Amino acid sequence: MSHTQKVKRIGVLTGGGDCPGLNAVIRAVTKSAISQHRLEVFGVADGFLGLIENRIRLLTFDDVSNILDRGGTILGTSNKANPAHFCTGNDPAGRPVFEDVTDRAVRHVKEHGLYALVVIGGDGTMSGAAHLIQRGLRIVGVPKTIDNDLMHTDVTFGFDTAVAIATDALDRIRTTASSHHRVMIVELMGRNAGWITLHAGAASGADVLLIPEIEYDLHKVCTRCADRSRRGRAYTLVAVSEGAKPIGGEMVVDRVVQESPDPIRLGGISEVLCEQIANRTKLECRATILGHVQRGGKPTAHDRVLATQFGHQAVELIMNGQYDRMVAVQDGRITSVPISDVADRQRLVPRDHPLVAACRATGATFGD
Ligand code: F6P
Repeated sequence: MSHTQKVKRIGVLTGGGDCPGLNAVIRAVTKSAISQHRLEVFGVADGFLGLIENRIRLLTFDDVSNILDRGGTILGTSNKANPAHFCTGNDPAGRPVFEDVTDRAVRHVKEHGLYALVVIGGDGTMSGAAHLIQRGLRIVGVPKTIDNDLMHTDVTFGFDTAVAIATDALDRIRTTASSHHRVMIVELMGRNAGWITLHAGAASGADVLLIPEIEYDLHKVCTRCADRSRRGRAYTLVAVSEGAKPIGGEMVVDRVVQESPDPIRLGGISEVLCEQIANRTKLECRATILGHVQRGGKPTAHDRVLATQFGHQAVELIMNGQYDRMVAVQDGRITSVPISDVADRQRLVPRDHPLVAACRATGATFGD
């Protein structure tokens, strides 16, 4: 029997935080698999959690119709379910207890006769996938995250939408900044990576861009705000990544999610900066934390196109017997890379990135 004849059923799951374009990938995987290869496609509910709890169901053509432009994921997702390190409850002191439940997840894949899995997620999900590959599953990954921080791909789907939303927010906040002559600080997502802030800051012409990769000097940030005010540009628009930190300082942690494989949730740097800049410059300051609005709603046309190409390519990799690889974009072409090269690694903004240079050249400061 040839390889393609052996492939009858595949599964698809979405892991980690939700992201615009997830449904477009699910649609592309399911439609390509059914119409091009006459496969059956099973959807796993809530990422690896559904694999552990055996919540797996057949997806029909109708299930994935009219979802191309829909935000979120019709399958549900979880960023707390790593089969190798799964929280099964609390000990008497209230501390979470973790167990390796990989055998259970693998058994459920086999019970449903799933020849291979399409796993759509970020670095944490690719790390879970790498572990399942070691335990014998055939997996193809699809790079998802608004943070754009996955290794070996120039771009992830969801990023373009997040940048568009963040840019719109910065544009709108500029009107209040200029009308009230204020320093307006907008905090954007991205974890340890400054891609969203760099791109949205460039697109909106923000005056100060603070990203995790370039530690800032508070004195220089305040000087820029005060200088602008003195020179008659009576407002300053600051775009700050949630992971930005001062020279020698720490990131601001919003909460710790113990059950999560990546427990730290960042947030609050804009409020810290707001108080510091107001105290030092005596200018009126306001902070806005944009938050989850950056991952909500319809994907942009760019993300729908990318997600469709990714989903189709994932099925092609399976049909060509190329497992354990993640779909990627390199130099504008769709390709694939080993999942193990991506797992648990992050692609950060290089300090000498051309867009950093362009922002500096057009008058922005990174506070360094
Ligand atoms: O990775 C996507 C992301 O939105 C990050 O930018 C952010 O730090 C994190 O997820 C927020 O996670 P949660 O939805 O668990 O608060």
